[in-house]
Amino acid sequence: MVAQVLRAEGRAPQRANMESWQEYRDLRGRATGLISAEGEQWLKMRSVLRQKILKPQDVAVYSGGVNEVITDLIKRIHTLRSQEDDGETVTNVNNLFFKYSMEGQIHVDNKLKAIQSQLDQGEEVNGGLLTYLLVSKELTLEEIYANMTEMLLAGVDTTSFTLSWATYLLAKHPEVQQRVYEEIVNNLGKDQVPVALDVPKLPLIRAVLKETLRLYPVLPGNGRVTQKDLIVGGYLIPKGTQLALCHYATSYNEENFPMANEFRPERWLRKDNLDRVDNFGSIPFGYGIRSCIGKRIAELEIHLALIQLLQNFEINISPKTEPVHAKTHGLLTPGDSINVRFSDRK
Ligand code: HEM
Repeated sequence: MVAQVLRAEGRAPQRANMESWQEYRDLRGRATGLISAEGEQWLKMRSVLRQKILKPQDVAVYSGGVNEVITDLIKRIHTLRSQEDDGETVTNVNNLFFKYSMEGQIHVDNKLKAIQSQLDQGEEVNGGLLTYLLVSKELTLEEIYANMTEMLLAGVDTTSFTLSWATYLLAKHPEVQQRVYEEIVNNLGKDQVPVALDVPKLPLIRAVLKETLRLYPVLPGNGRVTQKDLIVGGYLIPKGTQLALCHYATSYNEENFPMANEFRPERWLRKDNLDRVDNFGSIPFGYGIRSCIGKRIAELEIHLALIQLLQNFEINISPKTEPVHAKTHGLLTPGDSINVRFSDRK
């Protein structure tokens, strides 16, 4: 049924009624960003923004910047664990990963001002998404600010909670962690800093992220407002109906994923070209032309961080950690702090 709704969408799908966001922004004389825009305005922004961040090869250029932040992340782990009695535990890893996700965004804001001043002085500037947006002048400065704010809203917690869950699952499943580590060592080595082009050589690390998002989809549900009358599951759904699509439920459905409660990243590995996992069973980044525009950035940040964490450390559950259950606070978050031991790899 989820597939039926999503496959029927038009050229500018609507997720939910965003009139209150729109009204507030109008009142303040502010622009809307991609999350809150609708119709033609959304189409225009989406077509501009998608050009630089939607494909894996577009985001590959950010590997260097992401790795700089990962170097800081690893230094921070060394500092934090040295403050604990056992010299290895880091309590509440989400604080750590939140800072990791956030750091990139702070660079973004400072960079915006620097690029604008270079442009004002008539200098030539080369760079990533922001430079492109400012140089191409396809969006106004207000629209660029609105989009940067909304990307901060959409990108920081989602990425950090997912990294926290992935760390928790790897710590709870040492046998999976060992297989992932061996894949890294065999294809990349113990010390080589990974870049985006290395990730396709490591199918298991990609499978770990998919399986983490299946078990803990940080956005547990999604929505669509129907843009025409639809028959779904034998019911007539009139145009303009808000539908809630709960991919948390489909992710745990045994028909889609046998032994659905278990962490089994291997289920995502294709055995041959014809072998496919059900595409609509787990859609943590949404679907179609309104799906998550930051998917490739999030994947890059998470894959590169996990690879380097595993190259540096064996991750084990700390005796301070009780089983952690998920809670919904809008996002699906860890209900308790995740505490893990980062032991140096020999
Ligand atoms: C693990 C990390 C992430 C998850 C699970 C996630 C998930 C989602 C989901 C489910 C949607 C709704 C898609 C739909 O309606 O079909 C969405 C939309 C969106 N996400 Fe993400 N997201 C993540 C990270 C990011 C990052 C890092 C950014 C920014 C760099 C971002 C920016 C956005 C934006 C702007 C939208 C609205 C797109 C539109 O309406 O056109 N997300 N995300």
